[in-house]
Parts: sequence; structure tokens; C-alpha cells
Amino acid sequence: MKKAFENRLLHGADYNYEQWLDYPEILDEDFELMKKASCNVMSVGIFSWSMLEPAEGEYRFDWLDRLLDRLHGNGLRAILATPSGSKPAWLSRKYPDACRMGPDGRREPHGGRHNHCRTSASYREACVRINTLLAERYKDHPALAMWHVSNEYNAGRCHCPDCLAAFRAWLERKYGTIENLNKAWWTTFWSHRYSSWEEIEPVDNSVHGLMLDWARFTSDQTLDFFLAESEPLRRITPAVPITTNFMMPDVGLDYWKFARHVDVACWDSYPRWHVDGNDETVGARTAFFHDLNRSFKGKPFLLMESTPSGTNWQGLSKPKKPGMHLLSSIQAIAHGSDSVQYFQWRQSRGGEEKFHGAVVGHAGAESSRVFRDVAEVGGFLEAIAPVAGSSTRAEVAVIYDFHNSWALDLAQLPNTVSKRYQETCIAHYSAFWRMGVACDLADSVESDFSRYRLLAVPMLYMFREGVAERLRAFVNAGGILVATYLTGVVDGSDLCALGGTPGGLTDVFGLAVTATDTALPADRQEIRLSSADFPGGGSYAVADYADLADPRGATVHAAFTVGELSGGPALTEMRYGKGAAWYVAGRTGADFLDRFYGTLRERLSLSAPLATVPPGVSVRERIGDGKRFAFFMNFRETAAAVDLAGVAYRDLATGEPVTGALSLGPFGVRALVAGE
Ligand code: GLA
Ligand code: ZN
Repeated sequence: MKKAFENRLLHGADYNYEQWLDYPEILDEDFELMKKASCNVMSVGIFSWSMLEPAEGEYRFDWLDRLLDRLHGNGLRAILATPSGSKPAWLSRKYPDACRMGPDGRREPHGGRHNHCRTSASYREACVRINTLLAERYKDHPALAMWHVSNEYNAGRCHCPDCLAAFRAWLERKYGTIENLNKAWWTTFWSHRYSSWEEIEPVDNSVHGLMLDWARFTSDQTLDFFLAESEPLRRITPAVPITTNFMMPDVGLDYWKFARHVDVACWDSYPRWHVDGNDETVGARTAFFHDLNRSFKGKPFLLMESTPSGTNWQGLSKPKKPGMHLLSSIQAIAHGSDSVQYFQWRQSRGGEEKFHGAVVGHAGAESSRVFRDVAEVGGFLEAIAPVAGSSTRAEVAVIYDFHNSWALDLAQLPNTVSKRYQETCIAHYSAFWRMGVACDLADSVESDFSRYRLLAVPMLYMFREGVAERLRAFVNAGGILVATYLTGVVDGSDLCALGGTPGGLTDVFGLAVTATDTALPADRQEIRLSSADFPGGGSYAVADYADLADPRGATVHAAFTVGELSGGPALTEMRYGKGAAWYVAGRTGADFLDRFYGTLRERLSLSAPLATVPPGVSVRERIGDGKRFAFFMNFRETAAAVDLAGVAYRDLATGEPVTGALSLGPFGVRALVAGE
């Protein structure tokens, strides 16, 4: 793999130099402040098209030349963006097909961003033209470290004739004949059979197969657009790595597939600290997304954007409390990021984002806590530089599957209001987070299960082609598989499994689910543990979903306690091959998940830095070059003490030896290296 940055952690921001060309003294100040904040990289040119090409074919690279020279002169590298995230007005006027079209046949007016048609030949050509010029011009520039292709691609739909033709061609490639498509989509339902490709319009929510394929097509077409605009970069600068910034994973793109085509995965992280419940919960959630981005390529990722203070687009946002900026930044590193970068370096003076947090605000950097916090992170990153490039080894993975998420979104279940697929995956993941057991995220199709000893597949409602076989092989070879209610309900075409669920795996689980009950609060449904494997038993509340299942050989560890389900299997284990398959038949809270996964952890002797982790504390390791780095993070506003269980460490930031107990202040974070 191409390496843009040797042995250093990156610290930097999106820098919109071009917004300040009329303020030379501000630009001078920027480079001074970048040094003070120990920055070594800036992402530039992200929304610069109208400054690079003010009229068609009229180019203005002087400011970008100067910017790259100045970055280089000041010891910074550039992550250089292609400008396709936002179109110049002349382009929308001359090539209206570049603007997306709604289902009503109307083009979106020019404006905003991230709203181009991905199929439009004129938009693709315009992007290739400008990207070629950028690559040719800067291919030998010493500042150029990496390409930042476009910005935050999304899966917003376009119903223009070009997109519909491309969708129909995609379907034809997938199904071959219209009859195959009719079967896969079960179109005899409500008389929806098609007799030609031209009849297919992706606007019919009653045909789930259609809408699911439309979602898949949109994701594929976005990837295709990315590949098209990346082609000149790959060709002209083969040694320069390419990335594109991912977002929260519910934007309609199959990031597992996308990630294969980038050299480094990166993402933009905006947790709402101090707003979304307690910071511990926000910490676990954020950890999930960091681990997801690390798992995409199974190697270090980049935190491409984060806010140094608050945001202005989340309805409610608060500035980070003292300590939180260092903690949240180092959390990304602890989970495998090799960078901490911000949106944005200097706060815009006008426009929609003028009140978004920035390293340098309107009031300036003097006496600003935000600036001091950022400079503190810069210093810390320099001190812990040996961490760069090191990796994480997880024995556990939780499957997070985009196709499953789209299929569940479409599903009209008896309980449609409480699906919360992503939250459920986070809930299972969080049990490992609290125990300090490293956890990857995995895809049901793309990921290699053989690396793991324990695989949790919460709500894997859709078994795409080959998934049941892959899960069977995993258990057969000795893996421990954990599934929940609503697993293996439909196949990859969204057709329901016949003969009970999990489809194709009832023998592996030793049970067949025949129905799913809606567990209302008034029902007070519970899971009651009764087997010797869970000494002392215990009852745990169940909400939203509870499966009615026929045991077919599985050991029942717990039963439901209420109504028709009473006495029925709620937690089961089936030995199969060299492994075992567990089924959790109801949705429980964290209390049960901690107990359950804690028991599996002991049984499997899963490795973890600490036997017990104090509440609110997170511990993570990165391993590289024979060194074991350990990060201890306190997500509570009160101090915490961690028993290091006899391991001798050295503090990477201070150089001090640390043994015995480690103290963490409110929102405190320490980075240690073992055995030195
Ligand atoms: C995204 C975008 C940035 C900016 C930030 C604001 O991540 O990529 O351009 O709009 O959000 O939080
Ligand atoms: Zn289109």
C-alpha cells in the first residue's frame, strides 16, 4: 500500500483558504497558528470549483499554487480534494442534466451541495476534466500527500432519464430476463408483474424487491461515479493514496463495498457530547463508528473531520467541556485512527456554516479555550507518534450489514415502529466496549469470519446469498455464533424463508422460530435464566420483540415468563460441529447483554487488557512493531482509578513509568506503552 505519512499521526483541518483571499493578514496568521497548534496537514480545495474554474474552461490555479507552496513552506502536507461535492452555477445552467431530478420529473434548482446526478455524462466529463488538470498540475508538488475525492457522497436519489436507463440496465445485468425479476420481486402480489424493463419505475413502495434493488443500484452508481472521477488521479498519480470521507453509516451507501476501492478509509465524526444522554453512552456509540471505519479495511483509518467545539446543524449542540476535546480526539486514535482532523480550521464569515465550530473562531484564537484544546491535542499526538500504523486484534466481531439495514427499513412488520437495527448492533457492541474486549465490525458477505472466535449477528433479518452457508461453516469450524430475534427472516431478494427461521440454519441453532410477538411495556415480558451456566439465574426485561420458537435440539438456558410465550425458549445454545450457535429470542437491555456476553467471555477466555474495567472507563489497545499501546479513557465527569493488574507501563506523553493504579481525571485520558 502507498504510504503518504511515515510514522506520524496527522493533525489538521479542512482549510478554506480561498474564502479569505481578500484578507492577507488573516492568511499569514493562519500559518502561524497552525504551527502553534502542532498541525501537520490540511484538507484543501473541497468546495473550490467556482474558484478554480470561474467560467467554463477558464481556470484559476494561482491561489491553490500559492496555498500548496505555503503549506509546504510551513512543513504541512495537503490532502487535496476534487471539487465535485458542489457545482459552480455556470455548470448547472449549461448542463442542467447535472442536477438531480425528483420523481415528479422536475430538476432540483442549482444550489446547496452533494446533489449532482451521478449518471449525467456532462457532469462526469466536467469532473474528469478538472480532476485531470489538478492531477497534472500538482503531481510532483511536495505538499500533495493524498487525494480527498469529492466530499461525503450520499445516496440521494435521482429519477432523471439517464439514471432510470442505468437502473434498468443494472437490473437486466442482474436478472437476465424480466421473468426472473418478476419471481425475485414476487410481483404477482397486487398485480405488479412487469412485462418489459421500461415499465419499471422506482417509486412503488409496495414492491420491496424493487425498492431494495433501487437502493442497491444507487449505492453502486455512487461508487461508479467515484471510480470515474478517480480514474485520472489513479492514472496520473499512481503513488498518491486516494480516500473519500465517509459519514455516519446510514446514508444509503454500502461502505463495505466502497471501502475496497479506497486506499485508506476515513470518516467524519460528530457525536453530540453532553447532549445525547450521558457521555458514556455517547462514548460507546462513537467507539462503534470508529471501529466500523477501522474494520472497513482492517487497518488504521483517518478521522477526517470532527469539531473542535460544537456544530450548527444538529438542532442542539454544546461546546465540549474541559477535557472532552482531548478525550474524544484520542478515542479515535485508540480505536485505530492515525489522525485527528477538524471541520474547520477557520470559521466561515458567511453562509450556512458560519456558526459551526472551528479551530479559529470569529473572535480569534487569542484567549480561546477551543484553540488551546486543539493545541493540546497537537502536542499529545506528537508525543504518542509511535502509535502510528499500529493495529488492533479483535477476537470478536459484530455484523453490521447495509443491505440488511435497507431491507429492514422497508419491512412492514407487526412491530414496525421499534426496529432500530443500528441501535441494536450498538447495544451488543457496547457490552464488549464496557468489558474492554476489542471488537471489530463485519459484513455478512465481504468479511472473513475465520479471524474471529465469537460472531454476533444482531437482527440479521436478511441472509444474502451464501450467508447461511458462511455462518454454518463458521460454527462448524469452532466459532461461537450469537443471533437474535428477527434473524434470517428473508433471503437476498427479500423473500421470506419457508419452514421457520433463521432461514436455512434451524438445524445449526437447534430451533425454528415460527412467529414474533410484539412485546409492549404493559406485557412485562421477561427472560428468566435457569441453567447452571448462569449461576443464580436472574430475570431481565424484554421489549419490542419476542420470538415464538420450537426447540429442535437446542439447550434452553432461559425461558420467557409471560403469556403464550411463557416457558418458551428465550435463550438457547446448540452445539454444532466444533462450535455453538446461541439464539437470543427477545430484545433485552444492557443488563442482560452484560451478563450474557460476560459469561461467554469467561468461557472463551477472550483476551482483554483488564479483568474488570471501572464503569464509565474504556480501555483499548493498539499493537505494532512488538509494542503494546494501551489507552485508558474516562467518559465520566468524576475521577476514576484503574487497577493495572500488575502490568508495568510507561506513559507515552510524560515518559513516566506507571504501575499499580492509574488515575484518570474527569474526562481524563492516558496513553501508555506496556513493558517499558
Ligand atoms: C460535513 C462536511 C463538512 C461540513 C461538516 C459540518 O462533515 O463534510 O463540509 O459541512 O459536515 O459538520
Ligand atoms: Zn440522474
